[in-house]
Amino acid sequence: MDQKSKKIETVLSENRMFKPSESFQAKAHISSMQEYESLYKKSIKDNLGFWESIASELTWFKKWDSVLDENQAPFYKWFVNGKTNISYNCLDRHLDDATRNKAALIWEGELGDQRTLTYNQLFREVNRFANALKNLGIQRGDRVAIYLPMIPELAISLLACARIGAIHSVIFAGFSSESIRDRIHDCEAKLVITSDGGWRKGNILPLKNIVDEAVKDCPSIKHIIVVKRSHSDPFPCHIKEGRDHWYHRLIDGVSGECQAEEMDSEDMLFLLYTSGTTGKPKGVIHTIGGYMTYTYLTTKYVFDLKPEDIYWCTADIGWITGHSYIVYGPLLNGATVFMYEGAPNYPDKGRLWKIIEDYSISIFYTAPTAIRAFMKWGDNWPNKYNLSSLRLLGTVGESINPEAWMWYHQIIGKEKCPIVDTWWQTETGGIMITPLPGCTPLKPGSATLPFFGIEAEVVSEEGKDTEAGILAISKPWPGMLRGIYGDSERYKETYWSKWPNKYFPGDGAKKDKDGYFWILGRIDDVVNVSGHRIGTAELESIFVEHKKVAESAVIGIDHDLKGQCLIGFISLKDSVKATDDLASELKDWIGKKIGRFAIPEKIIFSQDLPKTRSGKIMRRLLRDIASGRTLGSVTTLADAGVVEQLKVKYEED
Ligand code: PRX
Repeated sequence: MDQKSKKIETVLSENRMFKPSESFQAKAHISSMQEYESLYKKSIKDNLGFWESIASELTWFKKWDSVLDENQAPFYKWFVNGKTNISYNCLDRHLDDATRNKAALIWEGELGDQRTLTYNQLFREVNRFANALKNLGIQRGDRVAIYLPMIPELAISLLACARIGAIHSVIFAGFSSESIRDRIHDCEAKLVITSDGGWRKGNILPLKNIVDEAVKDCPSIKHIIVVKRSHSDPFPCHIKEGRDHWYHRLIDGVSGECQAEEMDSEDMLFLLYTSGTTGKPKGVIHTIGGYMTYTYLTTKYVFDLKPEDIYWCTADIGWITGHSYIVYGPLLNGATVFMYEGAPNYPDKGRLWKIIEDYSISIFYTAPTAIRAFMKWGDNWPNKYNLSSLRLLGTVGESINPEAWMWYHQIIGKEKCPIVDTWWQTETGGIMITPLPGCTPLKPGSATLPFFGIEAEVVSEEGKDTEAGILAISKPWPGMLRGIYGDSERYKETYWSKWPNKYFPGDGAKKDKDGYFWILGRIDDVVNVSGHRIGTAELESIFVEHKKVAESAVIGIDHDLKGQCLIGFISLKDSVKATDDLASELKDWIGKKIGRFAIPEKIIFSQDLPKTRSGKIMRRLLRDIASGRTLGSVTTLADAGVVEQLKVKYEED
C-alpha cells in the first residue's frame, strides 16, 4: 500500500472527536462553532471588508487607498499605498499602556543562562541596533543576511532591519557555508549578522568561522556583525579589521531611539529561502502590510492569546514558523514570548518539560517529529515535571499521526488542552487551515477547517471538486508570498499555473463529510524530513557535482521519527568502486554543500538506475523498492533487469 492510500485509510478509520472543555470555551476569543461559522461566512462574503477591519486594528502612518489590487494577478497587492512599519507595530504600539513593562521576550540559553526583555527594553535594544546598522551604511531596501543561534539578538536583528526598511534573510544556523554563499549571492546581501558561536547539545557551533568560509567569494558583503554569544569567554574566531564588528561595541553609546521608517505596505519585509522541485532554493518574498495583518490575526485567534499567557514555539527563527510565530505574530499582539537556544535533550531528555515548569508556559507549539521523539524517550520524562500551567498545545510541519496526537493530548496536555494542528507553508506566511481552540471539535490527524478569509478546496488535477485530491486555495489572502526573488516567472509557474486563479500549495488532501481537511503530504518531489523541506532535485544535482558520481536519484520514504527520510540511489562513474567509505564521503558531501540535516539516511550504489526508454528515471519504482512494496508496472522500463538487481541489493543492505 502506498503512503497516500495508507493515510487515506487512517483518515477513514479515525472517528474520535474531542471538544474543548467548557472552562476553555468560556474564556476563548471564538467560543462556539456558531460564532466561527458566522464570522467565517462574513469573512468570505465580504473578504475585503473583513481584512480592512483587521488591518485597522494596527497602526498605519497613512491609510491604504484600496484593500486589494488584482489587476496584475497573481502579483496581488494588499493595502495599496498604505504606509506603516511592522517593527513599530510590534514595539512602539505597546509603549503607551501597561504592556510597556511587560516581558516581551524571556530567553534561556542551553547552559541555563537567562535574559528577560520587557517591551520597553526590547524597543530600546532594537532601536540601538537599528541605529548601528544605519551607521554602517545600511539603508532601506538593502538585504541583510542573518545567521545566528536562537539568542535574543536574532529577534532583535529582524526587528531592527524591519525598523529601517532593510530586507532580512535569515539562514537557519544548520546550513553549511556553501548554502549561505548561494543565498547571499542570490539576494546580494550587503551585511551578515552572526555570532562567534552558539550552543547545541553541549557543543559549540562555530558560526563565525562558517560565515568566514561562505563570504570568501561574496563581493556584495561589506560588513559582518558578530554577536559575542558568551560574554566572558568568546569562542575563538577571527575578526577582520574594517569588515567585522563586534555587536556589543557597535551598539555601545548609540542612541536607543531610531524613528521607524515609513514603509509602503508592499515594500519587501523579508526573503526566506525554501526548497522547490527544481534547481536551487527559491527566495520567497513577503511584504509588510499584508504579512503583518495576517500574522497578527492568526496568532490572536489560533493561539487564543491572552495578556497573561507565556507562549512558547519551539521552532527555530531560521524557518518561517519562527518568523511568524516567535517574532512577528506574538509581538504584534503584545504577548510574552519564551525562547530557548538549545537542544531538547540537553543535559537530559526532560529539558523542555523542566522549562515548562520553570517558566509556567501556557501555550506550547511544536512539530510532530519532535512529539514522536518525546514519545520514544518515554513518559517518565514529562511525568517528572509539573505541566499544569499548559492550557493549549499546537503542532505544525507535517500531519500528526493519531497515536502521536493522543500521546500529546494525554501525557503533555493531561486531556485538558486543545491541540491546534496548523497547516501552512513558508509561502502562505501564516496559518491557513487550523482548529480554533475554543470551538473546533478536534479529530486527531486533521488540521480541521480553514481560517477566516481563507477559501480552501480539494480538487482534481483538472481543478474539479473531489473528496481526495489536491489542496487548492481559491482566494488571495494578505499573508501570501508576493513572488520569488529575481524570478517572477517561477512564481507564476510554480504556484498559479495549475488551475486558473487558484493557488497550488503542492499538497495532497482529503475533505471528510464534516468538511474537515486531512493533509496527505507533498505531491511533488519535495520531501519533508523532520519538518524541513528538502527538494530531491537539489540533492541530485549536488550528488552529480561529486567527481565520482555519474547519476543519482533521491527519494523520500516514510520514517518513524522523522516523518520521511531520504534515500540516495547513486550510480558511479566507470572504474569507481562502491565502498562504505565512499558512501560516508558522499553523505559528508551533502552535509558540506547543504547542511547536516539534509544528509540521506541511506546511500545505495547501483550500476544503473531504472529508466524509461526515453531516459527518464522512474522514481516511483525506487520508492517501491525502498518501501518494500510490490513493484509497480515495469512495462515502460528500458531494462527491466535493473530493478530486480536493485531490489536484491537494497534488501541485502
Ligand atoms: O506539506 C505541508 C507540510 O509542510 C509544508 C510546508 O513546509 P514549510 O514551507 O517548510 O513550512 C513548514 C511550517 C509552516 C506543507 O506544504 N505541513 C505543514 N504543516 C502541516 C503540514 N502537513 C500536514 N499538516 C500540517 N499541520
